[in-house]
Amino acid sequence: MSIFRKLAWFFKEEKKSYFIGVFTLVILALIQLFPPKIIGIIVDSVADKTLTAKSLASWLSILILSAVLVYCLRYVWRKHIWGGAARLEKLMRKKLFHHFTQMDQNFYQKYRTGDLMAHATNDINAIQNVAGAGVLTFADAFISGVTTVIAMIIFVDPRLTLIALLPFPLLAYFSSKLGDKMHEAFKDSQAAFSKINDKTQESITGIKVIKTFGQEKEDIEDFQKNIDYSIRMNNKVNNLDAMFDPLITLVIGMSYVISIILGGYLIVQGEISIGQLVTFFNYIGMLVWPMFAIGRFFNVIQRGNASYDRVYGLMQEKSHIKEMKTGIKTPAKGDIDYQISTFKYPGSEEQVLKDVHFSLKEGNTLGIVGKTGAGKTTILKLLMREYDDYEGNISINSQRIQEYTLDGLLHSIGYVPQDHFLFSMTVRDNIRFGMPEASEEKVEQIAEEAVVHQDILGFSEGYDTMVGERGVSLSGGQKQRISIARALLVQPELLILDDALSAVDAKTEEAILNNLREERDNKTTIISTHRLSSVKHANEIIVVDEGNIIERGNHDELIALNGWYKKMFDYQQLEQKIEGGAR
Ligand SMILES: Nc1ncnc2c1ncn2[C@@H]1O[C@H](COP(=O)(O)OP(=O)(O)O)[C@@H](O)[C@H]1O
Ligand SMILES: [Mg+2]
Repeated sequence: MSIFRKLAWFFKEEKKSYFIGVFTLVILALIQLFPPKIIGIIVDSVADKTLTAKSLASWLSILILSAVLVYCLRYVWRKHIWGGAARLEKLMRKKLFHHFTQMDQNFYQKYRTGDLMAHATNDINAIQNVAGAGVLTFADAFISGVTTVIAMIIFVDPRLTLIALLPFPLLAYFSSKLGDKMHEAFKDSQAAFSKINDKTQESITGIKVIKTFGQEKEDIEDFQKNIDYSIRMNNKVNNLDAMFDPLITLVIGMSYVISIILGGYLIVQGEISIGQLVTFFNYIGMLVWPMFAIGRFFNVIQRGNASYDRVYGLMQEKSHIKEMKTGIKTPAKGDIDYQISTFKYPGSEEQVLKDVHFSLKEGNTLGIVGKTGAGKTTILKLLMREYDDYEGNISINSQRIQEYTLDGLLHSIGYVPQDHFLFSMTVRDNIRFGMPEASEEKVEQIAEEAVVHQDILGFSEGYDTMVGERGVSLSGGQKQRISIARALLVQPELLILDDALSAVDAKTEEAILNNLREERDNKTTIISTHRLSSVKHANEIIVVDEGNIIERGNHDELIALNGWYKKMFDYQQLEQKIEGGAR
């Protein structure tokens, strides 16, 4: 029942809808008491031969009228109660998704994606059920249950009512026992569902790896195991659920038997009429639904309660990245000052960054080079506030990056990661993702700058070609160039290319970088790469190794230094020559 207290805020907001809904249910319950009574009256008038065509016609028209009324009122409560539940679902889902967008990397390391998906679908659904089916069964079962019993007492006989209802407490006892078991089974089946979600996601993301290592068979077997387990758990829920119906049939059956024996006796004694007993039977029939409903009700609120707690728990998770609500909202712009003494990833002991210090003047270009795993991406992540727990200070225009709102900081940055991401939409929409109002000319001009325009014209439907699962498959280099075009279009104050040209050949890369230099003359750019020729023109280059800056300077200075950079540069030049010669 505590779920209703937890959802009090919602019912308060929607009190009009629920008031109308419940009020309609009360009227309905009262109207439904008439037909059995009328049938009883008709039976009695048949028995004592007083039934006339005229009175039969008027009784029948009352029956028809009440049927029509019931029909209309059902529409009214459905609209209000189901409508309210749908609004709750939408609201909860919106809140949860908003919360997901606020969370930092720690959160996504702690929770598996499959779990989050299960929360966003099944749990929200279970909560929605409380506000819909839960409220309905509660209100309806109690209102129609109580009014029916009262009608039995008034219209028929109190003693008969009392004795006929004796088996009912039995039902309450068994259904609560069953409810507990059901709750446990439901929890298990939910956990199994999460696991399948996770497994699916993992297999799809890792499909290349799975295939190259020839593990398809094992993977499918593993998947099958998960599915089997989930089916077993679901069957357990269904089996318990299935025990409910026979139980109700049994109790109602007992009730009928008692009524026939005792009712017959009362008729013989002349205490009630045959018509009254017919009415009574009808009323017992009307108690079947409330009995079902009470069982369902406990089930629904138990599920809803567990789900609400889980969702609430997620909502209580705080992002480590605290946004200063009163922070600077205008896009960050100016010199960057980067001073980090140490950084470790949460939950890891490894010092990933050590004494990384550099400044970058507005409008200049910084190159970050180094081996894979050196810490290049990490340096950029801190700049974008993916992690805040470090020793040191990062500022833009002499303001710590924490003093900006997240929008203020992030909207001024165009980040192109190595593992670029294209959406399932047309090429054009992918490019103008950050600026949907961009004109066709603008999109094409940007695509030319990213040296992907010719490629796009070669697609079957040009800029209207669909990308993604249902669309054309692009080469890695094409995807990277489209991602770059997307970032260029919004003309960010700071453009970050994080190994974003790794799949593009050296010639094309040079063309893109030349365009960038022209186009972004007075804007700041950071290029992280393992291909040294990409940063030849940068104002400063830092060489990172094991989280440390081991060399720094512009290209000529670094060559003169005759260290790692020089060695690597010569090696890559040679490599390129050999590759070029081989073509
Ligand atoms: N989320 C993470 N949690 C823990 N360690 C990480 C995480 N991401 C990266 N690392 C580690 O940090 C180091 C630097 O990684 P990264 O910045 O991605 O290097 P680069 O971009 O130069 O290839 C690596 O040793 C990597 O294993
Ligand atoms: Mg990287």
